Amino acid sequence: MKAVVFEGQNQMRVSEQKRPSVAGPQDALLRVTTSAICGSDLHMYEGRTALAPGQMVGHEIMGVIEEVGEAVTSIRPGDRVVLPFNIACGYCYNCHRGFTNMCLTMNEQKPHAAYGYAGMGPYKGGQAEYVLVPNADFNALKLPGTPFDQWEDDFILLADVFPTGFYGTELAQVSAGKSVAIFGAGPVGLMAALSSTIRGAAEIYVVDFVPERLAKVKELGATPINARDGDPVEQIFALRAQTPGLSGRLRPGEDKLRGVECVIDAVGYQARDDKNYTREKPTQVLDNMVRLVNPAGHIGIVGVYIAPDPGGKTDLAKQGVFALPMAELFDKAVTVGMGQCPVKLYNEYLRDLIITGRAKPSKIVSHRIRIDQAPEAYKKFDERIEGYTKVLIQFEEARAA
Ligand SMILES: NC(=O)c1ccc[n+]([C@@H]2O[C@H](COP(=O)([O-])OP(=O)(O)OC[C@H]3O[C@@H](n4cnc5c(N)ncnc54)[C@H](O)[C@@H]3O)[C@@H](O)[C@H]2O)c1
Ligand SMILES: [Zn+2]
Ligand SMILES: [Zn+2]
Repeated sequence: MKAVVFEGQNQMRVSEQKRPSVAGPQDALLRVTTSAICGSDLHMYEGRTALAPGQMVGHEIMGVIEEVGEAVTSIRPGDRVVLPFNIACGYCYNCHRGFTNMCLTMNEQKPHAAYGYAGMGPYKGGQAEYVLVPNADFNALKLPGTPFDQWEDDFILLADVFPTGFYGTELAQVSAGKSVAIFGAGPVGLMAALSSTIRGAAEIYVVDFVPERLAKVKELGATPINARDGDPVEQIFALRAQTPGLSGRLRPGEDKLRGVECVIDAVGYQARDDKNYTREKPTQVLDNMVRLVNPAGHIGIVGVYIAPDPGGKTDLAKQGVFALPMAELFDKAVTVGMGQCPVKLYNEYLRDLIITGRAKPSKIVSHRIRIDQAPEAYKKFDERIEGYTKVLIQFEEARAA
């Protein structure tokens, strides 16, 4: 079968790999119909993780079950499913509390596991024609419909970015009437914007540098802030002050609340410097969030921070250690939440929003490609050029089947 394999810095290759087969009684074999490329894959692509060459990648996967082990009871061959990118056991202390992002048994090294990802266990990636699903009763979400119907491009986003964007809003405590700012208009930031509209936020600002992505922000009903036009925090302060409805309703002291109540980091450790987009500044978004969040507000960090980082600019950065304005955070009595998304907490609910037509996350999909086009798509997505925002690898063979 064909699969996308990491070959070294800035090199993904499509190569022939052995098709997996059901080995354990709880496994299932999935015939992949769609697999997406994620911003998280770019950390590996750019050589910013400890991933060794030769690994199959891809953790956003959906398709049709081909075969199941003898102990699998809740899904059958022919079932259409999407896989949460977290691989979890379902019975450990963390899993049974819902924290499948922190499963204690599926990865020897760390409390989390995923398909085709550096440091997340031995599981093969799913940017491939087939993938093995461990512990399949727990790690597959059943879907209605048939491959490549009107929901295919929405359902694939349930593997990661829609739940992750939603998790950002959960950590930042977004609810009806609140003010929200999101850093990053990549797929995760855009899904955080969509989730903020679903949760009824009153003001939603999304900061980025990439024009095509800022256009999507507008399409989703949020306010784009182009960081090329100046300090994004000052831009949001000014916009709020200039909006008559917002400035005309203040009670005594409220004029000090120039920022927003909920702030989300959908960028991570490869953040660019606001003053020079071509330079990296890992703390840029963290600094901006601390300035922008109102006292007693909330910060949610879903942008990834990874160590070891072979490409970090300093010894501390290589270990993932960064300076934080801790005193200001404390002073403001802000809550901060972060981490990988526990996809299973949200994916069923978000699936049902798609089914009932209340959410159409596929609005952010920019490209649908064949697997042979993956290396070129990685390059363009990495450069954030030509509108490459969310790329779906779709399998023609599966379409015909
Ligand atoms: N927590 C999780 O479970 C989880 C899941 C998926 C992805 N992620 C992470 O989310 C982050 C975003 O991934 P993505 O898929 O949306 O793709 P992405 O990496 O393309 O999105 C990042 C966006 O941030 C923008 N950006 C860079 N510096 C910025 C700055 N200083 N201010 C504002 N915007 C800036 C970029 O232009 C880009 O559009 C990545 O770090 C990814 O690893 C986390
Ligand atoms: Zn992902
Ligand atoms: Zn577990």
